[in-house]
Amino acid sequence: MPTGFIEEELKRLKQEGLYRKLRRVEGEQGPTLILDGQEVLNLSSNNYLGLANHPVLCEAAKQALDRYGCGSGASRLISGNMTLHEEFEAKVAAFKGTEAALVFNSGYQANIGVLSALAGEGDVVLSDALNHASIIDGCRLSRAKTVVYPHCDLEQLEAGLKRAPAKARKLIVTETLFSMDGDEAPLVEIVDLAERYGAMVMVDEAHATGVFGPNGAGVVAKLGLGGRVQVQMGTLGKALGSFGAYVAGSRGLRELLINRSRSFIYTTSLPPAVMAMGIAAIDLSVNEPQRRLALWHNCRALREGLKKLDFSLGRSEGQILPLIIGDTQKCMAFSERLLKKGVFAQGIRPPTVPPGTSRLRITLMATHTHEHLHRALKAFEEVRGEMEP
Ligand SMILES: Cc1ncc(COP(=O)(O)O)c(C=O)c1O
Repeated sequence: MPTGFIEEELKRLKQEGLYRKLRRVEGEQGPTLILDGQEVLNLSSNNYLGLANHPVLCEAAKQALDRYGCGSGASRLISGNMTLHEEFEAKVAAFKGTEAALVFNSGYQANIGVLSALAGEGDVVLSDALNHASIIDGCRLSRAKTVVYPHCDLEQLEAGLKRAPAKARKLIVTETLFSMDGDEAPLVEIVDLAERYGAMVMVDEAHATGVFGPNGAGVVAKLGLGGRVQVQMGTLGKALGSFGAYVAGSRGLRELLINRSRSFIYTTSLPPAVMAMGIAAIDLSVNEPQRRLALWHNCRALREGLKKLDFSLGRSEGQILPLIIGDTQKCMAFSERLLKKGVFAQGIRPPTVPPGTSRLRITLMATHTHEHLHRALKAFEEVRGEMEP
């Protein structure tokens, strides 16, 4: 049978504890969820500010639907460039303090589109070992030589820059807040190195947008590095509560991406209602900082609670707390037991994270309450007690 490999492959995944399956959420995305019919506390969402079901975003989408209809009908370069796409891009440029911005249909598409437009054969991309899969795929698509430096290791990054041929175009790419470890890249030092060796810097602010920096503009804004980072990518599907992504930078960068980025050119543009939600979400991020304060309060409370219970959280600094278990089967068993107690903390295993570092990826939201956090800590303590011999 030509498809016999499918069953074989699925069997192998199950044997190795790497089989994945979908869980179904009924109703809205909130701090609690109806997951596969069970009400659970949600510690597994990137909806950090709780905007995914915010009435202001819903209303913005409804108004855009009434005014512009549902679909955009074509790609941006054909007849799909609508007023709201450009309004959204102006909003992002002002938010990030850049000359221009360009919207992509998702963060995945942004990363593959930008990397393959900015680097090509004979160029060198230097990429952090823990960068997201979309960055890895973008490096592959670009056909540039990719130098993967150990996580946040500035010495190795510098060694890679030194080894790059003098004539090669060089690009350093890093997440600012790492998605699975919750730690921050040493961005000031990275930018210094880039300037010393004539390299460009591209950052992925998927998990920092809406959360870090003034107005939630991200880590680059927090560190005042706007003028020194050439490419700032961020997403709308996480803290900003809707869907899509942006790349902020110079006018020239925007024009080049419009001309060269295949994941921008060859795809139908986002529906206008999605852009309306993006605009509303940035306004909320700027005008209502109280959500970020609530999120930080929750982060402190849960981090301190877990540390008191002697759980190890690595170098995490933000709203992502990796509770490292190590062994994949043990990690998934921990997650299943928590779920039985009504706490959803997804186990993350290879290839999403390196072998031997399987973890519960706990994420916090501004809308979690004191009672939610108390319930979470109790469940973590109980499950650990049940699993220890
Ligand atoms: C660091 C990072 N970059 C990019 C993406 C992709 O963004 P999107 O979900 O909008 O495709 C994600 C997660 O999905 C991510 O965690």
